[in-house]
Amino acid sequence: MYTGNELRDMFRKYFEERGHKILPSASLIPKDDPTLLLTVAGMVPFKPYFQRRVEPPFPRATTAQKCVRTPDLEEVGKTARHHTYFEMLGNFSFGDYFKNEAIPWAWEYITQVLKIPAEKLWVTIYPEDAEAKSIWVEKAGVKPERIVGDPENFWAAGPTGPCGPCSEIYIDLGETRGCGKPGCSVGCDCDRFLEIWNLVFMQYNRDEAGVLTPLPKQNIDTGMGLERIASVMQGVETNFDTDLFRPIIDFVAGLAGIAYKENPKSDLALKVVADHTRAVSFMLADGIRPNNEGRGYVLRRILRRAVRYAKLLGIDKPFLESVFRIIQRDYAHAYPELKENENFIVNHLNLEEKNFQATLEQGTQMLQEKVKGLLEQGGTVLAGTDAFYLYETYGFPVELTEEMLEEHGLAVDMPSFQAAAEEHRQRAKEQSQQMRAVSESPALVQKVKQLGITPFVGYDKISSMANIEGLFVAGEERQDAGEGEEVTIFLSETPFYAESGGQVADGGVLRTSRAEARVLDVKKGVTGTLYHRAQIVTGVLHVGETVEAVADQTNRLATTRHHSATHLLQAALRSVLGEHVQQAGSLVTPERLRFDFTHFSPLTPDDLRAVEGLINEAVLKNMPVEATEMSLDEAKQSGATALFGEKYGETVRVVKMGTFSKELCGGTHVQSTGEIGMVKILSEGGIGAGLRRIEAVAGLETLAYLRSLDEQVSEVAQLLKAQPADIGKRVGGLVAQVKDLERELSHLQAKLSKNEAEGLLSRVAEVEGIPVLAAQVQASDMEGLRQMADLLRSKLPTGVLVLGAVSEGKVNFVTAVSPTGLSGLHAGQIIKEVAKITGGGGGGRPDMAQAGGKDPSKVGEAIDRVPAILRGFLQK
Ligand code: SER
Repeated sequence: MYTGNELRDMFRKYFEERGHKILPSASLIPKDDPTLLLTVAGMVPFKPYFQRRVEPPFPRATTAQKCVRTPDLEEVGKTARHHTYFEMLGNFSFGDYFKNEAIPWAWEYITQVLKIPAEKLWVTIYPEDAEAKSIWVEKAGVKPERIVGDPENFWAAGPTGPCGPCSEIYIDLGETRGCGKPGCSVGCDCDRFLEIWNLVFMQYNRDEAGVLTPLPKQNIDTGMGLERIASVMQGVETNFDTDLFRPIIDFVAGLAGIAYKENPKSDLALKVVADHTRAVSFMLADGIRPNNEGRGYVLRRILRRAVRYAKLLGIDKPFLESVFRIIQRDYAHAYPELKENENFIVNHLNLEEKNFQATLEQGTQMLQEKVKGLLEQGGTVLAGTDAFYLYETYGFPVELTEEMLEEHGLAVDMPSFQAAAEEHRQRAKEQSQQMRAVSESPALVQKVKQLGITPFVGYDKISSMANIEGLFVAGEERQDAGEGEEVTIFLSETPFYAESGGQVADGGVLRTSRAEARVLDVKKGVTGTLYHRAQIVTGVLHVGETVEAVADQTNRLATTRHHSATHLLQAALRSVLGEHVQQAGSLVTPERLRFDFTHFSPLTPDDLRAVEGLINEAVLKNMPVEATEMSLDEAKQSGATALFGEKYGETVRVVKMGTFSKELCGGTHVQSTGEIGMVKILSEGGIGAGLRRIEAVAGLETLAYLRSLDEQVSEVAQLLKAQPADIGKRVGGLVAQVKDLERELSHLQAKLSKNEAEGLLSRVAEVEGIPVLAAQVQASDMEGLRQMADLLRSKLPTGVLVLGAVSEGKVNFVTAVSPTGLSGLHAGQIIKEVAKITGGGGGGRPDMAQAGGKDPSKVGEAIDRVPAILRGFLQK
């Protein structure tokens, strides 16, 4: 019996022997591919080769590729074969061999190497692909009656891109695994016929409009799911029973204190938790960060599903990290990123789990309220919209909601839940279609493709003579453009830095003897073409003429200083806080730098001083700054800091500052660190879970910052009529003085109230023989009013007291009844009636109560009505 690891190796070795280069799995983040969120198939990393956007460096390759697919998320665990994360074994030809080789090799591998009996196998082809059929029969030796046509045999990685007809190998697992329905045969959805290998004959490219154009060359892309083939070879029922999964499942079962394969419901949850934790571990290992959009959102959704299903299993403690450790143990030898990025993975797992727990608790509370409401009203079903709200807002799977309702004998209105979910899906789909409709004009796309990479000559100069290669106004190609027009210009080479790696674009001018344009922005397209957006100030610019392109030197220098300072900052942070610090975002402008990084707690003032100190020492050492181009491997070996999760090309630029910092970077830099000038950190703070942000200034901006501080100090000193050096002491004195004054003021106020209170005592009246004092008084707030009431109470041992006050438009009332229970009177009830007159409400204890009102103009009336209100209560 072959293990999963053996199957992975055997496959690649078989194809290596047939001239294929074994490549490591590419990242789950597709490189330079805006059409895909995640690597969904073995061919994704090779799309540029199929499309010949990039010349393939070798004609054949074979891989075991990490993949994540989520359209069938809900199916995971329910079927024998759905996963989110899985490994795809594949062999690829980039315009080299085609069907004639791919088909017999696949057959040989399955029947000779894996020794699966041909009698168990079936082949499907694209109905119009007679060529494939004849190769299967003649070259591979498959019996014609075992080959069936399937119109669905056409494969594409997404709505656009390389695609082609395909041919699949199926294994018949036997009648006992089938659904038993009359039409059950190859292609049936049941578990009997299992697709084990897909051979795609990549020969078309599909564009946005769905039009197929032949690719420059014919290619091969095959895919065999590792988990599937392992289930076949290991003779187990589902992928989850293979050695690739079973240890994870058993571990989770152990956490839950249950056994696998005892109860279908808990088995489902075990499979979901195992599958999902494996997926998020690998996604994190590739640098995907959980957040609310794109692939970060996919990651978050999967992770949350794992937590929810664990809850169904009764796992109430944090568990993700412990499951990850099992995955790491079993997979790190094949995927070392599970070890290398361990801190990142564990930190994010724990943080997300904790945060989601809190959300779940909130959701549970909300559900409990709904349950209470239902029970009170004698209802038995929760509205589908409520269940969907719980799902959308708190991530409650409807199964969990059902489970929680069941405990109270309640249920979810499932049809209306489905309807709400469907409506939501529809809305989301429309939104994404609307977004896709916005794109560049076809002429512009054509132009950029034709131009390719614009050489950047701005590392050591800020001006150059360049040819105008293309000119567009509002997406329309033009031969010239004149004064006042805003144009997109393509140059043969450029000294303008295009916004990238956090560094903002250069501004500047384009000049001929008769015309001048102001460069507003420069952007780099996916093809490496630089778009100069410019406004023509005078004259006319023509395609084909030479312009002098001059970047704004002052701004460029200032930006450059901030960029170099950013490198020093990153190195200093890693040295002070630890190697776990990873860049998470960066902005470099002429005015300042902003650097986001991973770290789990605020920096202490000592940390900040240490970081700032290290940076400025590095500046003063005036270390040489060297930029060298090298291969990515060399760069990594040299220990250069790379942006985690970022994709780099084959050759990279490494920027080294003495021995202090070494980073992969395409930006512009000073020649020696002394040019940066003094660096000052302005702020440090948290911007999200495990993420911090530092803002700092360098060079002349530091001077400007210090000057403005200076001015502020002088201004304060002038106001205080003190020397700048004395302002601390003077402000301290002022603060103490203000406190004294406040104390005195409140003392005087109290005295005033006391006088007023004493005056009030003359206004005590009697209602049905009970002394009553009702009055509108002056009191700045509730506290003052209560104090006055206390004072009056001490002077009026028997009776009822009602005070009202208005201050800053706010109405306050206090009522006291003493002794408690006097003639059945209740302060809380009295004040409720009184406050109501002013549109307020309140209540309280029988002896003392307070309330707020709304309408200040009604306070007098409320007070006047007190005797009547009291009479009302006394008569009851
Ligand atoms: N791209 C095809 C698939 O994923 C074959 O590798 O099925």
